[in-house]
Amino acid sequence: MNQAIAVMDSGVGGLTVVKEVLKQLPQEQVLYFGDTARAPYGPRDPEEVVRFTREIAEYLSRYQPKMIVLACNTATAVALDDIRSRVDIPVVGVIKPGARAAVKASRSGRIGVIGTEGTIRSGAYDEALREISSQLEIVSLACPDLVPLVEAGDFDSPHAWETVRRSLAPLVGRELDSLIMGCTHYPFLTASIAETVGHKVELISSAEETVREIGTILSYNGKLAKPKSESPLHRFFCSGDPVLFRRITSAWLEKQVEASSIVWQVQTTC
Ligand code: DGL
Repeated sequence: MNQAIAVMDSGVGGLTVVKEVLKQLPQEQVLYFGDTARAPYGPRDPEEVVRFTREIAEYLSRYQPKMIVLACNTATAVALDDIRSRVDIPVVGVIKPGARAAVKASRSGRIGVIGTEGTIRSGAYDEALREISSQLEIVSLACPDLVPLVEAGDFDSPHAWETVRRSLAPLVGRELDSLIMGCTHYPFLTASIAETVGHKVELISSAEETVREIGTILSYNGKLAKPKSESPLHRFFCSGDPVLFRRITSAWLEKQVEASSIVWQVQTTC
């Protein structure tokens, strides 16, 4: 049986991880759920985020995936252990891979972390970074105004640029050499984030390192999909407006959508 890699996020942010799956593991089938009706998760209580993540993991489990990826830092920070204890397939989060990628990239050890209020409040990045090295200087900043931009499909308007500039102003001049985009939505805003913090600061998205981890686990378990002549059939679900979701997903995955004949099965739940 061809089992999919199930990927969840509060909305479209997890597509940044999906894009990397399509690049690194093109033979794999993806099953995606964006909880767009209930995004953003960042301002919510941890208990609520755990509950939502459980519901989504339960929903995705009906499709008997071979792995679940919490492509959401906010959910990873509070629900990773919980979901791991509930399912008998591997569950991968994005925080440890993001921390690993940042430590690999940083020369000075001055690392910035931007994320949702929930992620920053949890201290999960500090913990993951300090587990790797105790020598780091970490500057963390919650940026609650960025996810709503991305969910609205507004990546490049003057309003989006102004919001990014205002949100990241506290980081300017802090002599960081790398900045973890500790929210999977933020790579949609790479241009304005890079311009604001300066092009010398290396921007770290956890997507690449997370997908390397996914590949390693699947390979270790003998679960990598075999290359086939036809493209895998990906499935995308959201809980909110399917039209906007489809538009953002198509634009973000454009190349891959055309290459792999994505079939949309967007349904509204919740
Ligand atoms: N993309 C998610 C994250 O990485 C969630 C953002 C949100 O819904 O607030 O944290």
